[in-house]
Amino acid sequence: MTKVQYYTAASLNGFLASTDDALDWLFSLEQPDEQCYQAFIAQVGLIIMGSATYLWLKQHLQQDPGASWPYQQPVWVMTSQKLTAIAHANINFASGDIAKLYPTLLQQAAGKNIWVVGGGELAAQFYDAGLLNEIIVQIGAATLLSGKPLLPRQVMGATLTLSEVTQLNAQLVQLVYQVASDVDNTSQSC
Ligand SMILES: NC(=O)c1ccc[n+]([C@@H]2O[C@H](COP(=O)([O-])OP(=O)(O)OC[C@H]3O[C@@H](n4cnc5c(N)ncnc54)[C@H](OP(=O)(O)O)[C@@H]3O)[C@@H](O)[C@H]2O)c1
Repeated sequence: MTKVQYYTAASLNGFLASTDDALDWLFSLEQPDEQCYQAFIAQVGLIIMGSATYLWLKQHLQQDPGASWPYQQPVWVMTSQKLTAIAHANINFASGDIAKLYPTLLQQAAGKNIWVVGGGELAAQFYDAGLLNEIIVQIGAATLLSGKPLLPRQVMGATLTLSEVTQLNAQLVQLVYQVASDVDNTSQSC
């Protein structure tokens, strides 16, 4: 069964990136074993991200001539802008209500999971629509003065159930939370 998973890394005080979209805080940390990511991505059938995340990826691809588009899966970019796709990448652009788009996403995921890459506001749109099943967050040993928040919503009470804790190295811990009605839908992600 398809799960919608928000898989990301955040600073100890809950930021994805600094205000200017920099990820220096993350890349300065010891990186986790690649096998964890490989196990996760093998179960992903579709990827969705906001335009800031897409533009960050695009810019970094352009700056590194040896790099190529990293995803085999269809990628959806949510934007109200007219953005250009990357050559040889399966990229779709859409805007508006996530709930209306969801049946198309589900069909394209073909039984595998949907990875919400970020940012936090896009993950929150899935949460608001009752479509977010799992949050997988790698908390890094760094704090930022300000930045892009992990999930800009007030989520309290029994909504989130911690299902897995994995220490990845001396600077990263991975937490897996099941969201709301999905508490029995646990999986080993790493
Ligand atoms: N730490 C990590 O692992 C991690 C993971 C992911 C991202 N990041 C970084 O975190 C930052 C996230 O930035 P961000 O929070 O600003 O978010 P973002 O989600 O990447 O981009 C937000 C933008 O996407 C567009 N958008 C989102 N939902 C939409 C919708 N339903 N319809 C139309 N457009 C929509 C809007 O811009 P427009 O309409 O103007 O296009 C919105 O301002 C980036 O720097 C990214 O690289 C870090």
